[in-house]
Amino acid sequence: MKYPSPVRHAPSSGSPASSLSRRSFLAGLAAVPVLTALGCTPRATGSDTGLRPLPIPPLAPSTVDADGMRHFTLTAAPGTTEMLPGKQTPTWGFNGSVLGPTVRARRGEQVGFTIANRLPETTSVHWHGMHVPARFDGGPHQSIEPGGRWTPGWTIDQPGATLWYHPHPHGSTEKHAYRGLAGMFIVDDADTDAAGLPRDYGVDDIPLIVQDRRFTADGRLDESTSSDVGLLGDTVVTNGIAGTYLDIAAPRVRLRILNGSGGRIYNFGLADGGEFSMIAGDGGLLPRPVSLTRLVLSPGERAEIVVPVGSSPVRLRAFPIDAAHGGNSREAADFGFTDTFDVLELRPAGTRTGAPALPATLTTIARLHPAQAVARRRFDLQWYMINGERMDMNRIDHVSTVDTTEVWTVRNRDNWPHNFHVHDTQFQILDIDGQAPPPHLAGWKDTVYTPRGAKVRLIMKFSDYADPTLPYMYHCHLMLHEDKGMMGQFLVLCPGQRAAPKKMPAH
Ligand code: C2O
Ligand code: CU
Ligand code: CU
Repeated sequence: MKYPSPVRHAPSSGSPASSLSRRSFLAGLAAVPVLTALGCTPRATGSDTGLRPLPIPPLAPSTVDADGMRHFTLTAAPGTTEMLPGKQTPTWGFNGSVLGPTVRARRGEQVGFTIANRLPETTSVHWHGMHVPARFDGGPHQSIEPGGRWTPGWTIDQPGATLWYHPHPHGSTEKHAYRGLAGMFIVDDADTDAAGLPRDYGVDDIPLIVQDRRFTADGRLDESTSSDVGLLGDTVVTNGIAGTYLDIAAPRVRLRILNGSGGRIYNFGLADGGEFSMIAGDGGLLPRPVSLTRLVLSPGERAEIVVPVGSSPVRLRAFPIDAAHGGNSREAADFGFTDTFDVLELRPAGTRTGAPALPATLTTIARLHPAQAVARRRFDLQWYMINGERMDMNRIDHVSTVDTTEVWTVRNRDNWPHNFHVHDTQFQILDIDGQAPPPHLAGWKDTVYTPRGAKVRLIMKFSDYADPTLPYMYHCHLMLHEDKGMMGQFLVLCPGQRAAPKKMPAH
């Protein structure tokens, strides 16, 4: 039971790949309660490019208990993965050797998890982008010891979106994610159902976890050389393996792209320069599709795009970072900004009919207004610090009040790229360097890119969950930076409630 090592575990029936459609493959998965190895993804016949089929993370199986709670089990453990063809790379994964199954649930559903840690190190599982009680947030205060278990649960109450889960242990997030621990968490709601968008999972609705890796000569993950932005790889892996293509039998494909890298910023586009439509950002659907030729995603950010599939293959490519996103800096090469990677080849396959137009309207987003804000805060990002301080698990940096709105001003005050992520809530961008955000950044977000010199104003509301004991985090999501302390903690309290933070053992 390994995921995805497609070559070793390819079906040995000898049947040509084309006779087993991705749809029937996935349907087969759904029918069998045991997770079949992703390795069952059919291999290409007649591929002359050396690319391998994109592995699709299986949907996590779940059971609904008598109280209506949808229950999932995730087990983090070591394994080996054929990330490079013919090489076995030691990796970490959830329910498999690398990455994890896609968790899927609906808005309004109660979800519960049993998370088991079979790793040799303490880890945690954070629900990035999810509105959750602080005690179930999965940050550094909810660590799971080797051999331990953790059983969070909550009711999903936020718009349908592509979220993700990943480890968040204090000081080791980059390493744990680099070794392979990450998965997607798709939330569905009436808008995502009704939108008339591609939504056949694994067929024309594709999770795409994009990461960069460096390998040693014997095929191990190279953790030896770090840059100012962290471990930068020279190889892009998509859904856990290098060099992938995807057969598409539909006239268009929806890619749910996650930048799951620790420190690399991607400037995605199509190799032929063609347009695609962005339909959703971090926190859910945009009000309407936005036509783009380039899309920058910093670590932790997601975007759902719809790409037309014509009669010839088209490649999703990561282009060099442009000047507007810091690409003109003197250190551009050190930050990986000058690199180009092919990320995924989309190949037309089978019979397609013409693509229906995307709906003109996808959802409605109520704008938050600065006049409603009861607090304004500043966050200056500099070196490994925020507001001149590094993370201290025993320091609460500020207290917010439940059901109130705040405006946060985030500034990049050094020459490194940074971004800014807030737990518990989705925010709206008020402005970037004094300008209204472009349409593709005008939806709900939980992570925003702040290149050198950037000043971004965010507006957000803290709903429902007050906890005097356990904080939420905000931090730079360049994982090396967060590990080095570019993170702060805030409590959400009821009006008049006293903070009573839990004392953590010295680190
Ligand atoms: Cu994606 Cu605090 O994390
Ligand atoms: Cu998060
Ligand atoms: Cu940073």
